[in-house]
Amino acid sequence: MRKHIVAGNWKMNNGLIQTKTLISELKQQKKTSDAEVMIAPAFTNLWPAFEATRQYPIEVVAQNMHFADAGAYTGEISAGMLKSIGIQTVILGHSERRAYFNETDNDLAKKVDTALANEMRVIFCFGEELDDRKAGNHEKVVESQIKNALFHLEASAFKSIVLAYEPVWAIGTGETATPEQAQDMHAFIRKTLADKYSSETANSVSILYGGSVKPNNAKEIFSKPDVDGGLIGGASLKADDFFAIVNAF
Ligand code: PGA
Repeated sequence: MRKHIVAGNWKMNNGLIQTKTLISELKQQKKTSDAEVMIAPAFTNLWPAFEATRQYPIEVVAQNMHFADAGAYTGEISAGMLKSIGIQTVILGHSERRAYFNETDNDLAKKVDTALANEMRVIFCFGEELDDRKAGNHEKVVESQIKNALFHLEASAFKSIVLAYEPVWAIGTGETATPEQAQDMHAFIRKTLADKYSSETANSVSILYGGSVKPNNAKEIFSKPDVDGGLIGGASLKADDFFAIVNAF
């Protein structure tokens, strides 16, 4: 059985006080679903978030990391630093990292390798832009993003990888892929994995959908057979909304 996962990507939001407040609100929520819950605060708040969630089924994860183990990379954070404060999972390849910080498939392949070498779990994000979708190239784009960053890996590495399909045109726009569009793409992604590895590997990987998931559309999106959860931006900043999505499973 694939894991259901709902992860909140807080992006560059919430200072220390807001982080503590939101976490105490999250801790008051009642989880009625089987979904694993993750939150990704900013780097400066990872440690207080980790401490505040110790006794709760909420995993604190990082939004990014560098591919080098250490060295002269001013302003960057390494896998070892994350591990040293208990962080086990990192989001890599978010479209905002790709678009605003020029992260390439090649950079991401290196980051994935570093994360796996440090025994971390990766939530690997990818997704097409609006022009790609309009031109009918969305599958081709997604296939190349996955191949370029992940297909050098052995099948066994996929035990530590969660995929997150996030069409760029749906992120923060209020526009979501229809449940059918999400299902079609997730099935395509699974087939791409099955062709390269095996259907056993493909069927074991959780594939999350991200892009304007809200309490009012989560149930329908999560009802699709190849959608195993969500990566939630805006709606993860409100405890009630986030848990309404968690409990949509
Ligand atoms: P959104 O962001 O839910 O605000 O669209 C999703 C994401 O960027 O992961």
